Amino acid sequence: MKIVTTIKEMQTFSKQMLRSGKAIGFVPTMGYLHEGHMSLVEEAVKQNDCVIMSIFVNPLQFGPDEDFDRYPRDLKRDEELAKQAGVDVLFYPDVKDMYPKERTTRLTVQERVDTLCGDSRPGHFDGVATVVMKLLQIVLPDRAYFGMKDAQQVAVIKGLVEDYNVPVEVVPCPIIREEDGLAKSSRNVYLTPTERKEAIQLSRSLDVATKAIELGETDPVIIKDLIFSLLKQTSGKIDYVEVLSYPDLGNIEVMKGKIIIAVAVQFSAARLIDNKVTTSQEIAIGV
Ligand code: PAF
Repeated sequence: MKIVTTIKEMQTFSKQMLRSGKAIGFVPTMGYLHEGHMSLVEEAVKQNDCVIMSIFVNPLQFGPDEDFDRYPRDLKRDEELAKQAGVDVLFYPDVKDMYPKERTTRLTVQERVDTLCGDSRPGHFDGVATVVMKLLQIVLPDRAYFGMKDAQQVAVIKGLVEDYNVPVEVVPCPIIREEDGLAKSSRNVYLTPTERKEAIQLSRSLDVATKAIELGETDPVIIKDLIFSLLKQTSGKIDYVEVLSYPDLGNIEVMKGKIIIAVAVQFSAARLIDNKVTTSQEIAIGV
């Protein structure tokens, strides 16, 4: 596995790949890799000639009181995991190389951000859009792989790529879970043993909600109440519980087409998110 640390070298390599007709699959990450990331690599390996993974903890997407400084980092371990998973190039740029000077332009995400994590983390998706746009220009991939655990991020990036005609296919990949259902996340390491046990309520509440929908429940208020009642059993503070259209993330009055049921809970040192995207029948609901 090749390790690249400068933008210039990365772009030169990618241009050579493109010239020789090789398809590049790109897995952008912030490191501290887990099986969720590995599943993205697995998909990328299947569909491309060359797989590039970036590891970059992007300061722009963290708020002033968030965990940028203490975001878990372990490059040696990540290198080993990336190599085993079949990554061909690990791109590990420096903050000074990515953001060398005051920018002359700014990307602002206008749609799909006034709800869910966008609402609780102002500016977060501007930071994500900025770094993803930069990384796509540097890595020049044919396909880029994103986990559906951050379903709002996938929706925002799809919008970004469409708006700016970026010639890349955004490939969403399913959420990878622990055996008890907890969605894999680099932030799970922050949970205390008691919180770790309680955290299964996130996926459990989504399962119960999905079952209720399958059994004919059509009222999002009842679905949300059901989820609230399960999440309230944890010591965490419920940040949001939402049932929205997907990928537009609009409030729904009619359960029609793709919907997302999404939750976020703040534990003592970790904010956990989880969601389920499901396709609903065309059912009119009284809201
Ligand atoms: O999902 C992540 O890890 C990050 O938001 C991403 C896409 C790598 C951008 O920093």
